[in-house]
Amino acid sequence: MVLIAQLSDVHVGGARYSQELLQTAIGEINAAGPDVVVVAGDVTDDGYPDQYPLAKQELAAIACEHVILVPGNHDARNVGYVRFEDTFGTRDTRVRLECSGLDVSIVAVDSSKPDLDEGEIGREHYGWIEEGFTGDADLRVFVCHHHLMPVPGTGRERNQVLDAGDVISLLRQLSVDLVLSGHRHVPYVWPVAGMYIVHSGTVSTMRTRGFPHPAYNLIRVENGRIAVELKIPGGEQQGLGDYPRDWPAELSARHTDPFVRAQRGESLAND
Ligand SMILES: [Fe+2]
Ligand SMILES: [Fe+2]
Repeated sequence: MVLIAQLSDVHVGGARYSQELLQTAIGEINAAGPDVVVVAGDVTDDGYPDQYPLAKQELAAIACEHVILVPGNHDARNVGYVRFEDTFGTRDTRVRLECSGLDVSIVAVDSSKPDLDEGEIGREHYGWIEEGFTGDADLRVFVCHHHLMPVPGTGRERNQVLDAGDVISLLRQLSVDLVLSGHRHVPYVWPVAGMYIVHSGTVSTMRTRGFPHPAYNLIRVENGRIAVELKIPGGEQQGLGDYPRDWPAELSARHTDPFVRAQRGESLAND
């Protein structure tokens, strides 16, 4: 079994942030012993210099060897994207892991833009993403903070990844199994085009929307199934779906999409 813990929207330093919630969640995650922990952005509330050391200190309690972080729109505020790099390292990550005999490929991309709430992956990243997923893998996981699909229970649609259509098409062609995101503070799963687009809620704030509790996700990949459960820190857990890992080819239709070409062998400057 591969176990992935997905948390996001920590918002350290925010008015509705709760250190107790975060510490409870991390304690539960450590007890679950995941192979990978994904922190899908908004670790700080405003990207301020005093918030990053606090966020790093809190997240250092995660015992997992493999922690994948991306910045969110809140982290990129006030030139926080530079402080993110100084604190946590690169904003984009490509890794390959061997987990319980499964070869797992993870590509995590910064979808934030300084001082904007909108997200964008950007065509200049497509080739880099494709390279990250090249070769054999049993499980391909893409991570970004913003949402590729609208999430219900969040009020009205806004801030979606500006190139969401092209990115979904690209990820489908690259045989991605899981997309892990945050941002909207509502846990949700969209099965689409051979993938499961999985959103975590806010792990440690009371900035909740349609789902009125702080939450994080535990994702189990086992026996050809992907099960997603949300967990309220210190509280209940609830299934968000138990799905087949592999879609029938006629439904995933991975190689029929004509629109996106990641590797063009020419500079985007000529675009
Ligand atoms: Fe957030
Ligand atoms: Fe966000």
